[in-house]
Amino acid sequence: MRDSVIFKIENDIAVLRLCNPPVNALGASVRKALIEAAKAISGADVKAVVLFGYGRCFSAGADISEFGIEPPAGTPTLPETIAAIEDLKVPVVAALHGFAFGGALELAVGAHYRIAAAGTKLGLPEVDIGIIPGAGGTQRLPRLIGMKAAVDMVANGTRIDAARGHDLGLIDEVSETDSFEAAAIAYAMHLVAEGAGPRPTSKREDRLESASEAMALLDEIRTSIAKKAKGRVAPLRALDALAAATGGDFAAGMATERAIFLELRDGTEARAMRHLFKAERAAQKIDDAPTEPPAEIHKAGVVGFGTMGQGIALVLARAGVQVTAVEIDPARLEAGLASLKKGLQDRVDRGRMSPQQMQAELDLINGTTAMSDLAEADLVIEAALENMDVKTDIFRSLDGICKPGAILATNTSSLDLDTIAAATTRPDNVAGAHFFAPAQVMKLLEIVRGSATSGATAAALMALAKRIGKVGVVVGNAFGFVGNRMYHRYTWQAYFLLQEGALPSDVDAAMQDFGFPLGCLAVGDISGLDVAWQVRKAQRAAGDVDPDAPYPVVADRICEKGWFGRKTGRGWYSYADGKPAADAEVAALIEAVSAELGIERRAISADEIRERCLFALINEGARLLGTGIAVRPGDIDVVWRYGYGFPLWRGGPMFMADEIGMQDVLATLQRLEAAYGPAFTPAPLIAARAAAGKTTLVD
Ligand code: 3HC
Repeated sequence: MRDSVIFKIENDIAVLRLCNPPVNALGASVRKALIEAAKAISGADVKAVVLFGYGRCFSAGADISEFGIEPPAGTPTLPETIAAIEDLKVPVVAALHGFAFGGALELAVGAHYRIAAAGTKLGLPEVDIGIIPGAGGTQRLPRLIGMKAAVDMVANGTRIDAARGHDLGLIDEVSETDSFEAAAIAYAMHLVAEGAGPRPTSKREDRLESASEAMALLDEIRTSIAKKAKGRVAPLRALDALAAATGGDFAAGMATERAIFLELRDGTEARAMRHLFKAERAAQKIDDAPTEPPAEIHKAGVVGFGTMGQGIALVLARAGVQVTAVEIDPARLEAGLASLKKGLQDRVDRGRMSPQQMQAELDLINGTTAMSDLAEADLVIEAALENMDVKTDIFRSLDGICKPGAILATNTSSLDLDTIAAATTRPDNVAGAHFFAPAQVMKLLEIVRGSATSGATAAALMALAKRIGKVGVVVGNAFGFVGNRMYHRYTWQAYFLLQEGALPSDVDAAMQDFGFPLGCLAVGDISGLDVAWQVRKAQRAAGDVDPDAPYPVVADRICEKGWFGRKTGRGWYSYADGKPAADAEVAALIEAVSAELGIERRAISADEIRERCLFALINEGARLLGTGIAVRPGDIDVVWRYGYGFPLWRGGPMFMADEIGMQDVLATLQRLEAAYGPAFTPAPLIAARAAAGKTTLVD
């Protein structure tokens, strides 16, 4: 079995290497080995200790996969392990490279001296997974760098680099050399030669502000942290733990920190955020992907240079891909290039990017009216009009022009991928690359697999997603795929709620209170209500709407008025001064639709709004899982997090379903079905899991 810590004594220096691939997480075996090494060092004749990470980094911190699992009896905790290192009677140097996050930075702060390779990333990102540092981060870090700097790292989770760490006093030496290990050993030897002794951070008092200053600072920052936390508890609890560092009693502060850490670690917020952390990584795994990594994409084509095409071209160029943008009509091509340039110039004017960066991006994007210019492209993404004839014509042409093996992707949000792929002789190389608007901003990329899309094609798009800073999720070919299909169920409930008695602001406020950045009606006004209207028409044409099921008449009526949202000055809200405001004429239209449908309007509570919207999501998500359109429940939650702003600390609709438990989900759906019809007919997967006595959607 591999040693979790490789321990050697060379020239009177004890060298410890954390060795737990891929990121040297400080799991039970590493902690045990560190304690054993500390004991061995205490009894040995060594003059200093240097602590390295093996491989790509120092360490990513505590082993997240061990959270919630009882460690073997006698396993030391991380605070105990760090205390054993800090208590050593010779100087201990933490030698950091790659990154030192969470418990790893706490370990480094528990050492007596720190040297870091230039560029090393340092951080306490615990709040991003719903917890606080639990191994002294909130107690030792302020003693080392002062409360002000510590608050930012602990409560905001801000990562810094080695140079900034040096400025703050966190890092003693930054090494620019290529042979970092030699530099770290030389640094330890230099300390020995200088007669430097152990320097326990827990005993330092020179950097921490006075208790009254530190408390005043924490009080001052609490409001802004609460605002940023938006429903999350961990950042505020981090401040409570930091406050415990001010009393001068290190042991008491450690006890407070640990109690808060344990309380949060097992709570819903932390479980939800851990779930998303794992789900995001699991989503990248494609079962039938070839073992060798996909070839890198150097040249790409974008067909259709409207808003979406421009956004896609930009994200590709930003990752260094050479882009050829095709618009058959020269005027549209010119307009597209001009608008792209204007968007970039605006960013330069606002100080968001340098003129050099702008030029570098523009240099990578060439416009053409000739599809034949795509012959050498490794990948083409079509972002043309959402019309099947237009798309099949384009794919037929691409098939004749593009080199063998080139990936042909469509950005369609609603059309059948198999029909598009059938226009080519290489359906295995055809996939959906569904970007979300604005493509430069939204992190989600749905990678749609048709019936013939190969694992290699999906894997190449997944690798591209990572490269361009997106989170890729593979989904199957169904109307609306995963995200939009579920979104339609949610918005339809919103429309029904309007018809039954709610007003737009009631629905949106209820969902914002839940944690969405915006309600779906306000979002509809931004994207244009006519877009969803076209989709409803397409759904009906595709036979995807049950003619006997309730239909959201109100959504059609508002479009028939030409009230399409912001762009027309009125949608679910009016925009006289640019901001959404309740509109009496819209309210009258909604009431008229209720009358037309013979519905007696009633007061609808925020709880009912949330329950119906969320259960519509849960039910449709379970259908997608049951039919294999979504591969894993976590994939759906990742789609909802990055495509629709589902609140991070709630984990996602599928996580929520598992938390509620299948029996209760089923009972709620049955109650809602009886009251509101087939939208809530329980998905077969939910019924089957509940019947089998299971509480979760999958084992
Ligand atoms: N524990 C367990 N596994 C971890 C881990 C951790 N802390 N950090 C990363 N991993 C795993 C990932 O799950 C992934 O596993 P997989 O290959 O099986 O999917 C693998 O390491 C590689 O991770 P990434 O794909 O994310 O690799 P990247 O290079 O893109 O990113 C990273 C590396 C920046 C370290 C990123 O993984 C990350 O941010 N990790 C979490 C860091 C963190 O939150 N640390 C704090 C932990 S909690 C703690 O320390 C509590 C303490 O205060 C007591």
